[in-house]
Amino acid sequence: MSLTQPDTLTETRVLPYIKTKELGKNIFFHVSLDSTNTVAKELAEKGEPHGTVVVAETQNRGKGRLGRIWYSPPGGLWFSIILRPKIQNLIPAHLTFMSGLAVIQAARKAGIEATLRWPNDIYVGNKKVGGILTETKTNGTEFQYFVIGIGLNVNVQPSDFPAELREEATSFLEIKKEPVSRAIILGNILIAWEKLLNEIYPKQGFAPILKVWKKYASFLGSQVRVDTSTGSLEGEAVDVTVTGALCVQDIDGIIHEVSSGDVRKLW
Ligand code: BTN
Repeated sequence: MSLTQPDTLTETRVLPYIKTKELGKNIFFHVSLDSTNTVAKELAEKGEPHGTVVVAETQNRGKGRLGRIWYSPPGGLWFSIILRPKIQNLIPAHLTFMSGLAVIQAARKAGIEATLRWPNDIYVGNKKVGGILTETKTNGTEFQYFVIGIGLNVNVQPSDFPAELREEATSFLEIKKEPVSRAIILGNILIAWEKLLNEIYPKQGFAPILKVWKKYASFLGSQVRVDTSTGSLEGEAVDVTVTGALCVQDIDGIIHEVSSGDVRKLW
């Protein structure tokens, strides 16, 4: 695979790796769009089924967490999955953790030692290599669907990152010094996701998933700064609860549970 002939994601290249029952059996391929999450939500509104995937070579208005812009040049893996899980008492935050774990498992299969930073950033060392944005549509108290948006800097050239990201972001290409097949990564994420959603979560619950998630959570035990909508907090990241909250122990030994925010590792 050469960089001048990128591995454009087409049906022919991707379908051989979709070894799932439901996820990715219905895929929409785009060269360019605003955001795969936005298009996936439109498709979900029109009734596209559970497991539908929208993938794009580039996004013009990729969405990050907390209203940020997600830089999405060619070479990255930008996609969204529509989920309509039929699971009693599903806790939506758990889906975010399953997404992170599925991504980590696929990245590690490709030889990338990816780790997780709460709530769901994908890191290699101290540089961010991917992120996940989960959006939900509710109908009163019922969840109608979830859109899980996953962005991974797979074959993004480091020189293509904007100046402000160059110190903070990396790509699989930069780490491995050679391109990695996006079709294989996509297929492996969907396989891992389906196993978590259809087998592990309904049969064993969230505990074993959180246990493995924590194994890859490199920030646990580190001093962190957490910025939330109500202020910021510094301390040691000591745990993640079964509801997905981050526990930070401050200098006085008080443990604070944070359910949403941004984590920066201090040392
Ligand atoms: C974050 O870390 O801030 C989350 C980034 C999520 C980016 C992905 S790329 C595919 C999908 N479509 C979007 O617009 N966003 C997500």
